[in-house]
Amino acid sequence: MAAFLQTNIRLNSIKIVPGRYSSPTDHQFRAPYRIRCAAASPGKKRYNIALLPGDGIGPEVISVAKNVLQKAGSLEGLEFDFQEMPVGGAALDLVGVPMPEETFTAAKQSDAILLGAIGGYKWDKNEKHLRPEMALFYLRRDLKVFANLRPATVLPQLVDASTLKKEVAEGVDMMIVRELTGGIYFGEPRGIKINENGEEVGISTEIYAAHEIDRIARVAFETARKRRGKLCSVDKANVLDASILWRKRVTALASEYPDVELSHMYVDNAAMQLIRDPKQFDTIVTNNIFGDILSDEASMITGSIGMLPSASLGESGPGLFEPIHGSAPDIAGQDKANPLATILSAAMLLKYGLGEEKAAKRIEDAVVDALNKGFRTGDIYSPGNKLVGCKEMGEEVLKSVESKVPATV
Ligand SMILES: NC(=O)c1ccc[n+]([C@@H]2O[C@H](COP(=O)([O-])OP(=O)(O)OC[C@H]3O[C@@H](n4cnc5c(N)ncnc54)[C@H](O)[C@@H]3O)[C@@H](O)[C@H]2O)c1
Repeated sequence: MAAFLQTNIRLNSIKIVPGRYSSPTDHQFRAPYRIRCAAASPGKKRYNIALLPGDGIGPEVISVAKNVLQKAGSLEGLEFDFQEMPVGGAALDLVGVPMPEETFTAAKQSDAILLGAIGGYKWDKNEKHLRPEMALFYLRRDLKVFANLRPATVLPQLVDASTLKKEVAEGVDMMIVRELTGGIYFGEPRGIKINENGEEVGISTEIYAAHEIDRIARVAFETARKRRGKLCSVDKANVLDASILWRKRVTALASEYPDVELSHMYVDNAAMQLIRDPKQFDTIVTNNIFGDILSDEASMITGSIGMLPSASLGESGPGLFEPIHGSAPDIAGQDKANPLATILSAAMLLKYGLGEEKAAKRIEDAVVDALNKGFRTGDIYSPGNKLVGCKEMGEEVLKSVESKVPATV
């Protein structure tokens, strides 16, 4: 970074740096794209941001979110060095692996990572270790980002886009804290094996150590404390041993957070309550697989999966910020994607990743402003509003960022 400071390159000057990627297969190549945007204005705060656009609509939404991040940051005296790296299917096409070592190194050395989405029809038949989605598992695991924060808020402007009745959906504002690096997605033993009868059996193991439960519970208690002070722990303690331990540890920690009201709910009931009366929830904490499912369910309450950001945080190192949606191959390359989930992920990056709350608030306010002006992508469109594409939505948010007075937080 020091070298960049000395060279005094303008913020919007983009330099292509030929990169050498090494992969687990020892394949090395000259990268056709590894982009660095470097800036140098003495006295400004600088951050390295790894941009991983990925596949499908990923590059479209990342390009828009990057501009918004840059503008909101510059208005608060922040400058960013963006380093764009291939991941997922894009990396498979380039180097034959979904997570090239050099991409991981750039991500690990950054201050924060903004990811688009991964996957697509083209790679659907790949062997498991060569599927684009494996990159996500590697990233989350190796960055040790065990806490996944997924807000689900029904904005008043979008209440009609919800599949639920207006009176049920309006006012919903919850945060799902999902454990991200443990449980059944990573547990051993796993795999497809042959049993003693010569029959194939598929094995996945739900396993949680006490320290894994404690650390995610602490994140959830702290999160609830900063919100409305209500935490609901979701498990399946009537059936699963891992859940029995989960409930025991979460309950034990509650005495350290007397200001937080703790409740417990079985996951099947939680899935039902989310649809019946979602307003009852403030903060939810749950394991990896339940969090995966419940947060997608919660996204539909808000109107569209294209609206929901997420933050994945560890005890140290950079956080990973990404929309919760996938690569949407059905609309990729058509300028139809809703970029707001990624733009809001950039706001979470500023808030939770860099502690830059004012710049984050600028983005959140600008998103609301663009919606107030009636701009809608297809997924959240309703008659009477203005249908726009991904790029135009990004431009409108950018205009709102520029026109708004400095945020107070
Ligand atoms: N984090 C990730 O990168 C991630 C997450 C989920 C799925 N995936 C991958 O994405 C691919 C497609 O998966 P899927 O179809 O199950 O889920 P998806 O989220 O990509 O798409 C589901 C539906 O939502 C729509 N949609 C998603 N994002 C949108 C947006 N921003 N704006 C407007 N509409 C949007 C899509 O058009 C589609 O109809 C698969 O390869 C899957 O493995 C990746």
